[in-house]
Amino acid sequence: MDTVILVIGANGQVGRVLTKALQDRYGKENIIASDLKKSEDSDGIFEVVDATDIDRIKEVVIQYQVAEIYHLAAILSAKGEEAPLRTWDLNVKTWLNVLEVARIYSIEKVFYPSSIAVFGKAAPRDNTPNNAYLDPMTVYGISKVDGENWAQYYHVKYGLDVRSIRYPGIIGYQSLPGGGTTDYAVDIYHKAVLNKTFTCFLNEDTILPMIFIDDAVRATIEVMEAPIENIKVRTSYNIAGISLSPREITSEIRELYPDFEIEYKPDFRQEIAEEWPRSIDDSEAQMDWGWKPEYDLWSITETMIRELKDQYEVIL
Ligand code: SER
Repeated sequence: MDTVILVIGANGQVGRVLTKALQDRYGKENIIASDLKKSEDSDGIFEVVDATDIDRIKEVVIQYQVAEIYHLAAILSAKGEEAPLRTWDLNVKTWLNVLEVARIYSIEKVFYPSSIAVFGKAAPRDNTPNNAYLDPMTVYGISKVDGENWAQYYHVKYGLDVRSIRYPGIIGYQSLPGGGTTDYAVDIYHKAVLNKTFTCFLNEDTILPMIFIDDAVRATIEVMEAPIENIKVRTSYNIAGISLSPREITSEIRELYPDFEIEYKPDFRQEIAEEWPRSIDDSEAQMDWGWKPEYDLWSITETMIRELKDQYEVIL
């Protein structure tokens, strides 16, 4: 029998693209996409699942004999600050529900997305190592540190095969991020293609680690497919793509749109960004399961502009 995979949070920025990649790889009939409601363009098997409801997760796991779960539901960094307790509740509760269901029904593998948001003031901002001290100052970051520790706990205590990556900011054309501090790096390309001025909520020289969506999805599948003995980090793996500032993205966009205009109006997200790494040391991921990013700034820019032009021509 084929392995059946449940994706929770399939409508999100990563979820949409990952669900499609999993369908292509393992067959549409083996992927159960789930979220709070069905999206219009959902293609394949879809179940409405509110991950705060453990019984609903159980139902779907039993109905489809699920063997693997990718848990992508979360409230991101900037949005999380608007409602800290709700964010904590949602991020942590849904994850504990997934871990419990996985333990009870002997799920074979579980994926947990962590983030560069786990780092705070104590971590070196350049080449931040995997095992830096974690003292984040967003509720999202705190919930991810907590989630990583729960992942390790369930692995050590119950032998659950939980695998995790700390995503940098994700740049992609297929889906929109919602409520993150790195969202500007997606919005900027939309505005360029629409010939609009972009108002950036970070300063021009704010450098953050970013990754192209195709690399992020490939990393996710690679860590999940790696032989079990290669997975040595049971909290979460740092992965690097490329470090970028708004100024650098702007100058690359101007190669294609010389009149592209940007103005800077930093807000509370500037403070969040200033606590996060500028660059990531991902040597553990490289050594343990062969991680290597493929996209640089030019290939990201070229792909984003090409794909978004196509999308908008369809819509306009
Ligand atoms: N991209 C996320 C955010 O900005 C970080 O994981 O919140």
